[in-house]
Amino acid sequence: MFKIAVLISGGGTNLQSIIDKVKSGYLNCKIEIVISDSEKAYGIERAKENNIYAIALSKKQYGDKLSDEVLKIVEEKGVDLIVTAGFLSILKGDLLKKFKNRIINIHPSLIPSFCGKGMYGLNVHKAAISYGVKASGCTVHFLDEGTDTGPIIIQKTVPVFAEDTAELLQKRVLEKEHEALPEAIRLIAENKVEVQERKVFIENN
Ligand code: GRF
Repeated sequence: MFKIAVLISGGGTNLQSIIDKVKSGYLNCKIEIVISDSEKAYGIERAKENNIYAIALSKKQYGDKLSDEVLKIVEEKGVDLIVTAGFLSILKGDLLKKFKNRIINIHPSLIPSFCGKGMYGLNVHKAAISYGVKASGCTVHFLDEGTDTGPIIIQKTVPVFAEDTAELLQKRVLEKEHEALPEAIRLIAENKVEVQERKVFIENN
C-alpha cells in the first residue's frame, strides 16, 4: 500500500480532504503518520479521530534539526510520499535530497504569483485582491530548496471579484485545494507523474 505522511501546522482542512478521499476509496493510500510542528494544531485531533498516528515535533525542541527528525521518522515508517499541507516550517537538508520529487506542497495562489517569503495564510489572498487580479487559485508542486519554487503538478483557478475580502477568497480557493491535493496524490500513487527539470508530465488515463 502506498504510504503517505502529512505535515501540518494548523487547522488541517487539507488533511481532512485526504482522510475523506482515503475513506471514500478515491485514494488507494494509507496515511501512515501526521506530523505537526505545533502541539496546538487542530489537525492532530482530526488525525486522532480517524485513528491515524499523529505526533507534534515542537519547533522549540527541534529547531534546526526538525527536517532531520522528520527524515528519521518517514524512513522508519517506510513513507513513499510526504505531503505538506499548511506546514509552516521550512524543510531542508538531507530530507530534500533523499525525498527529491517525493515531497509535495499546496500553496493557495497560482504560482509564481503571490508566493515566496511571507506569503502564507491570508497574506496571499490580501495580496491577490489588492493587486486586482481577476483569477487566483491553488498550486500543488514538488518541494525543492526554494520557497514555492518546485515543479508544478496541478493548478486550479477561481474568479476574484473586486468586492472580495481575503476571507471570502480564501474560502473559494480552499474548496479547490481540497480537490487538487488528493488529485495530485492519486496521480503520484498511480505512478502517472514524471518530472523533467521544471516540467511535470502527467500520463493520461
Ligand atoms: C492552505 O491554504 C494551504 O494552501 C496553505 O495553508 C493553508 C492550510 O489550511 N499552505 P489547512 O490547515 O489545510 O486548513
